[in-house]
Amino acid sequence: MIELAFSILAADFAHLADEIARAERGGGTIVHVDVMDGHFVPNITFGPPVVKAIRPITKLPLDCHLMIEDPDKFIPDFAAAGADMIAVHVEVCRHLNRTLQLIADHGMKPAVVLNPATPVEMLIEVLPMVHHVLVMSVNPGFGGQKFLPRSVERIAHLARLRTEMGLNYRIEVDGGVAHDTVASVVQAGADMLVAGSAIFEPGKTEQNAIDFLRVARSAALVQA
Ligand code: DX5
Ligand code: ZN
Repeated sequence: MIELAFSILAADFAHLADEIARAERGGGTIVHVDVMDGHFVPNITFGPPVVKAIRPITKLPLDCHLMIEDPDKFIPDFAAAGADMIAVHVEVCRHLNRTLQLIADHGMKPAVVLNPATPVEMLIEVLPMVHHVLVMSVNPGFGGQKFLPRSVERIAHLARLRTEMGLNYRIEVDGGVAHDTVASVVQAGADMLVAGSAIFEPGKTEQNAIDFLRVARSAALVQA
């Protein structure tokens, strides 16, 4: 199933509930929450209090992408705030297996994220534990960056590994995914599509989501 995980990083924070409702009306089915700490990435966004604030205003799953040092420290707080999925960066987890288990022990779906320079092979040992793998298709830290084309082969690699290893993790892609790049990532095997700036736009959010999903779903049909 192809899903749009809309990134609220590109939303109007003064009207977050309305923004989420618009993206949801356009067909978005996952709320992607970009958590940045100013250390792992050169930007600061929001944390558990914002997750807690949006939890009651939507039934959609909250997909928290932690771009932070020492994620273990905050996993209980995200669980208490109502997060459904937590993705941690392989680059910051010295004990990745333990961190993923901690996420699962807190009742959330564990996921792992790869920066563009991190080899896919780094994940081999943990693939059986994850709900999804998040492939960064830009260097994390900011919305609105240009899609890195090598990401397509990285997604295809993860799709091949899934078959070879007999697993069923999902593949999420994040960064520069828009109407002109979405077909290539879907055809490579991504099915959780993060998009921020391609979706949120004053007066056009709902229609942007509809158009984005139409392109993504027709690309999936070509693949099948
Ligand atoms: C970047 C974030 C992304 C970002 C995507 O560090 O992880 O989720 O919001 O934004 P767009 O879709 O604008 O590239
Ligand atoms: Zn993200």
